[in-house]
Amino acid sequence: MTALELRNVTVTRGAGPVIRDVSLTVEPGTITALVGPNGAGKTSLLEAISGVVAASDGTILMRGAPINKLSRVRRTKLGLAHIEQGRAVFPGLTVAENLRLTARDASEFERAMEVFPELDKRRDSPAALLSGGEQQMVVLARAFAAKPEFLLIDEMSLGLAPVVFTRLLPIVRRFAEDGAGILLVEQFTHLALGLAQHALVVASGKVTYQGDAQALINAPDLLHSAYLGG
Ligand SMILES: Nc1ncnc2c1ncn2[C@@H]1O[C@H](COP(=O)(O)OP(=O)(O)O)[C@@H](O)[C@H]1O
Ligand SMILES: [Mg+2]
Repeated sequence: MTALELRNVTVTRGAGPVIRDVSLTVEPGTITALVGPNGAGKTSLLEAISGVVAASDGTILMRGAPINKLSRVRRTKLGLAHIEQGRAVFPGLTVAENLRLTARDASEFERAMEVFPELDKRRDSPAALLSGGEQQMVVLARAFAAKPEFLLIDEMSLGLAPVVFTRLLPIVRRFAEDGAGILLVEQFTHLALGLAQHALVVASGKVTYQGDAQALINAPDLLHSAYLGG
């Protein structure tokens, strides 16, 4: 009972359900890649887990306790972090100031700086002067400094070249090695699957594949049909 668990979760937005009856488990120390076409409902699912939107049906549990009636702030305090799609740095603040917003104390701040030596070198630069990849690194470092038990990451690669995004992947792995359970939504499907142990494909709000990530890399036909709706 140490996992993040969804049981039959449905999310309704506007006219109807955008996520239907999704069940999944994210164990500590593991990465699950959540992939699927645009508009499939990936962002909505992460938003329901973190409390940006309410799930209209089903149960979300963390370490065995239901969290879906809790406020977003409570969920954060229980150790759930959500890097939202298009999440940006505070451009007018320095790198160090951005990190201090979430670091619990000075030692967490210094720990984050050790993990991100490139940022340490630029700790007094305004975040606005950093490249897109470095800014995304600040966003990751901010999450890292908060030491979450579970981390939801939504399209971290948005606006980045694949080569820049590739540099961020070892950081995500490091989170998992430190014991965090990670749900990784990513448009670069193969990079995400290559990093993850488990995979989940959603199409039109429904799970069309759930299982081993490597198995999906090895079976392009399976991946293709899952994207088309299973
Ligand atoms: N704030 C919103 N209000 C109403 N409908 C929304 C909202 N956000 C997303 N949707 C709809 O929900 C569906 C799933 O979108 P989304 O969760 O963003 O998918 P994905 O992240 O997989 O691209 C889409 O049909 C989208 O138009
Ligand atoms: Mg999205």
